[in-house]
Amino acid sequence: MIALAENEKLRQVEDAIKKAGRTPSSQKNLTKEFELKAKPTILKLGGSAISHKDKPLAANQFIIENLAREIAKANVQQLVVVHGGGSFGHPIAKQYAINEGFKDASQIIGFSKTHDAMAVLNGLVVQALIQHNISALGIAPSSFILTKSSRIEKMDNSIVAELLRTGFVPVLYGDAVLDLDRGFTILSGDQLVAKLAINLDAERIILGVDVDGLFTADPKRDSSARFIPYITLKKLKMMQNWIEKAKVTDVTGGMYGKIIELIPAIEHGVQTAIVNATKKDTVRKALCNEKVVGTIIEKE
Ligand code: IPE
Repeated sequence: MIALAENEKLRQVEDAIKKAGRTPSSQKNLTKEFELKAKPTILKLGGSAISHKDKPLAANQFIIENLAREIAKANVQQLVVVHGGGSFGHPIAKQYAINEGFKDASQIIGFSKTHDAMAVLNGLVVQALIQHNISALGIAPSSFILTKSSRIEKMDNSIVAELLRTGFVPVLYGDAVLDLDRGFTILSGDQLVAKLAINLDAERIILGVDVDGLFTADPKRDSSARFIPYITLKKLKMMQNWIEKAKVTDVTGGMYGKIIELIPAIEHGVQTAIVNATKKDTVRKALCNEKVVGTIIEKE
């Protein structure tokens, strides 16, 4: 009798899991890690869009709230959200030179503070998504990623893959992480986006920033800056040298530095679009594959 009741309970759990689009573990080959229902979409929310860049630790609640509503409306299957640091991660990381690696013990508290600030911002993004009935789940990259000379070296892909398969929207972020050569470093949300896109065989990357896309110069400082609606990977690579030498303001490389990080994913065949996450309805349209102002980067 007890066994029957337990069997019934098990059956109910398995039905619930099936409904959520996941194969019950009893029937699943656990080694086939990335057999997802649909190819994932990776959405990056730039720190400059979701925070006030010039005010330390100031979230842009209005934008976060709008984005959560738009993401809910778009109702994309297999979505991973990665957000940046803006005025949460960058100033503290810079103050303690976290991205220069371990030099002395006084930096360690800076690592904690940087991670903590990012976790606070992550909480705000996750809460906004949950309020719109999205099963968001925040995960700290520092808890499952190790870098080597600031490049991702070890990463347990099964965590994000399993979350997706179960029906969650994993929400990751640029973080202070441990580094096998340098002790620690800053892992940008963009390097993480590219790695996730490759490892999860994503369909597309949408990069939500606070400008309309790529420009020939910084549109906020240079009125002659021209908008680039489309660029091939080849051209982007040609610009790489110039970009690397360009003056950048944040610890992970400024706008072009971010795009450069995406090259391996674009090379892998992941479609990439840069759009303005601060303009109403833009992220929703991009998620729904509707026409929107932005820069498309393609392999060829
Ligand atoms: C930076 O992440 C994270 C930290 C400084 C801890 P990103 O480089 O992805 O952040 P944004 O989007 O430029 O703000």
